[in-house]
Amino acid sequence: MKFTVTEEKIENLKADCEIIIVVNKDLDHKWIKDKDDLRTLKFEGTLDECAFLPHQHRVYTGVDSLERDEIRIAVSNAMKKISNCEYERVKIASYIKDCPVTNTKAIVEGIKLGTYTFDRYKSEKKSLSIKEVIISLEDYAQKTLNLEPAKIAVKQAEIIAEATNHAKEIVNTPPDDMTPVLLAQYAKDLADDLEDVTCFVGDENFLEEQKMGAFLAVSRASVHKPRLIHLKYRPKNARKKIVFVGKGLTYDSGGLSLKPSMHMVTMKADKSGAATVISILEGAARLKLPFEIDAIVGACENMIGANAYKPDDVLVAKNGKTIEVRNTDAEGRLVLADCLCYATEQKPDFLFDYATLTGACVVAVGEYTTGVMGHSSDLKHSYLSAANKSGELASTLPFNRYLKKLLKSQIADISNISSSRYGGAITAALFLDNFVEEEYKDKWLHLDIAGPAYVEKEWGYNQAGASGAGVRMALYWLLELTYKKSKHHKKDV
Ligand code: BES
Ligand code: ZN
Ligand code: ZN
Repeated sequence: MKFTVTEEKIENLKADCEIIIVVNKDLDHKWIKDKDDLRTLKFEGTLDECAFLPHQHRVYTGVDSLERDEIRIAVSNAMKKISNCEYERVKIASYIKDCPVTNTKAIVEGIKLGTYTFDRYKSEKKSLSIKEVIISLEDYAQKTLNLEPAKIAVKQAEIIAEATNHAKEIVNTPPDDMTPVLLAQYAKDLADDLEDVTCFVGDENFLEEQKMGAFLAVSRASVHKPRLIHLKYRPKNARKKIVFVGKGLTYDSGGLSLKPSMHMVTMKADKSGAATVISILEGAARLKLPFEIDAIVGACENMIGANAYKPDDVLVAKNGKTIEVRNTDAEGRLVLADCLCYATEQKPDFLFDYATLTGACVVAVGEYTTGVMGHSSDLKHSYLSAANKSGELASTLPFNRYLKKLLKSQIADISNISSSRYGGAITAALFLDNFVEEEYKDKWLHLDIAGPAYVEKEWGYNQAGASGAGVRMALYWLLELTYKKSKHHKKDV
């Protein structure tokens, strides 16, 4: 799908169909031509209302305000209404709020995210007839003739939405078609496609050499061998180094602490952290951001078998710390422990890990929200602000000294589960904290995406299944960091 921006008035543009955004019941706006029909249909013009007038080839879609995520939802709703029609060219006028490009960006993101489908395993595939979306910036053009910022915004939005959709694709792929080895192959192919990106893949021998005893233990009972995937984006004149670590459990059966069958379905999504960090790197490289970026993935399967690791085992992580295993279903933190040690060796300026780590996080904040944890209030705050702009929901969960004590083990340095059933998302993060060296503590955030990464019903512009959680918030955060220094060029992303 091609996106074109133009200063031409919406009424002069040739298209097969028009999408019209109605803001907070304002049916008198100049772009609205079918006021009477809309009244008959009892269309008022609020969020989640959508009216398609097929004879006029116009679809009206409501928002309560021009807040960008409402725009994304509204355009996605409109696209759903017309997705079965034979339209090829669609036009839409962009409102201008304080910043001329944010709403234009939201339109592109809403359309691209909202029209994603996962039909690889369907015999009958639907293809979208829409080939081009023309966005009129007539209101913007009244103020300035320079369309360049809007064109850049559209390009950025396309990259961000595509990277998110690629993350969905990885997560939605069934476990036997996305084993650790196949995920590593995906990363290698991606590196071949991108400029300034290389990919290193470490096998079991590499994990042995690295003394990654925790990661190896989790992987042991699967016929699919583990892989450490390390993508590196190295542009010229990079300003900072940012490392992203992802939990890549291509399947989590729970291991010997086996999950009940109801909880095992959807555990193909336990590789979401991996999908997120790989796709963040893809987006950053395509946006040509001025940072060195690493995506490090611990990819393996948590299975049962005669050689499975067991509750009561004591593992030795890469940094030498000993871990008493009390539940083999708390495996993500074991894989991440070794990967975080490896990640700090890369000497990052910022370190983020993404993981579908705990059901407790979903209980705490609900299934649509990412739990954000870490020591630095500033870093948490800046990430939350970027998440908000990107349209992702995120909420902080605070550490405290009493929860930390619950991880004590009688026979090892630390236990892999808390002794209490409460505060599980935070105690999991506090477990990870043991594997982040002192000098990196304030540079690190842990993002628990167990809820939003995979939801089995559609929400907003997200389809049922994977949502690519975490990709957009990171790319918005990176874009903000890109523009932060240039005071004269204070730009909204
Ligand atoms: N992958 C799961 C967490 C999860 C749960 C992700 C639901 C998505 C949806 C993780 O490995 C796990 O099983 N965690 C346990 C930890 C417990 C044993 C301390 C959990 O959350 O129950
Ligand atoms: Zn588990
Ligand atoms: Zn898991």
